[in-house]
Amino acid sequence: MTTLDPWGAVKIDNYSKLFDEFGISKFDELLEKIKNPHRYMRRHIIFGHRSYDSVLNAMLSGKPFAAMSGFMPSGRAHLGHKMVMEEIIWHQQQGGDAFLAIADMEAHAVRGKTWKECREYGINEYILSAIAFGLEPGAHIYFQSGSESVKSLAFELGIKANLSELSAIYGFNGETNIAHMVSALTQSADILNPQSEEFGGPKPVVIPVGADQDPHIRLTRGLAYKTNMFRLLVEETGKEISVRGKAAPKEALKEIAKRTGGTLYEEHVDISILGRTPAEVAEVYSIVQKVELKYGGYAFMPPASTYHKFMTGLQGGKMSSSAPDSYIALTDKPEDGAKKVMRAKTGGRVTVEEQKKLGGEPDKCTVYELLVYHLVEDDNELMEVYKDCVGGTRACGNCKKYTAELMSKFLKDHQEKRELARERLGEFGL
Ligand code: TRP
Ligand code: SF4
Repeated sequence: MTTLDPWGAVKIDNYSKLFDEFGISKFDELLEKIKNPHRYMRRHIIFGHRSYDSVLNAMLSGKPFAAMSGFMPSGRAHLGHKMVMEEIIWHQQQGGDAFLAIADMEAHAVRGKTWKECREYGINEYILSAIAFGLEPGAHIYFQSGSESVKSLAFELGIKANLSELSAIYGFNGETNIAHMVSALTQSADILNPQSEEFGGPKPVVIPVGADQDPHIRLTRGLAYKTNMFRLLVEETGKEISVRGKAAPKEALKEIAKRTGGTLYEEHVDISILGRTPAEVAEVYSIVQKVELKYGGYAFMPPASTYHKFMTGLQGGKMSSSAPDSYIALTDKPEDGAKKVMRAKTGGRVTVEEQKKLGGEPDKCTVYELLVYHLVEDDNELMEVYKDCVGGTRACGNCKKYTAELMSKFLKDHQEKRELARERLGEFGL
């Protein structure tokens, strides 16, 4: 018998390429350090990351960190968006600063939504739900078009973005309108903006995303690196740090040399770290950062990311906004949500006899997925469902009814909270 794995529904096989080819790290390695891991963490739905250690270390030592994401106000918010919202909120609850962008510039340029529609969708679909899920005041909720700092940062990043790289990621060609390109840069600016002076300067920032969003993260990490005044290289011997700043003011290089005891060259400073303690090496980094900020640079840290797996569409294929039966929207009527569950693809066998004999296949069941991702918080309760299913004592009909009930309750409760959130928009400066 194979080992029971109640999280098996979230198959990792399809994602292993991300580790090997793209250098995404496994989230499991960090899991034990996290104090109150979110359901998505415990259940390995969040499976990968880039430099999330930076965020975790800040979290554990009480230093500033942030979580940010953006939503395009062009369609209905559904359970997939709920995942991102919950991840932002969890980080806010762990002491982080929370940022939520409404990507109205993108929706206007790319999807042809009017500004008025953007405003309405932004508030009604995304912001109300985020507040209903528990986003608290102090969170920075903004529309891209309303943020001068994001727009000017996008311009700045544009200096280091070239068309071929952007085209490779976004599929731009000669027909692509320029505002579409600007909105790609605006997304990178959203990601880096929590590190701007206005919000207290450089800090670890995590962007929780779906597995397919990694190219945007890599682009932004690259832009952050290129926009910085200084690049720090640890020499292969490990004995020396080289601070390179081709375009940096000479004064700034001089100051770094002086404050770190390094040797000044034309375009770089070499700092011996032989015999320095880790704390002293960290001090070198901190000096370089301070000098960069003093001379008007950004000193961005590469943004961190976490990657979550996707839910399957309720019919078995992909979730798609053009197929309303494939997803459950956060504003679906509770009874409609329940109906969608009743019509969803299960991992049940063809006949009841077979089901009893072989057991069901929760790993292939979209109903079970709803329980794992959204509807059952208690791990033991979920384990019971899993065991009963594979043991053949659980019938799909009843299981769907149970899940439909939970879904309808969830939607009803969420929608009531949305109405309360509507009264609280002012607390968020909206
Ligand atoms: N482009 C994203 C989308 O299509 C929305 C978005 C804008 C975003 N800014 C962001 C996502 C910053 C993550 C981080 O939905
Ligand atoms: Fe899915 Fe439930 Fe059927 Fe198992 S019993 S296959 S979990 S619907």
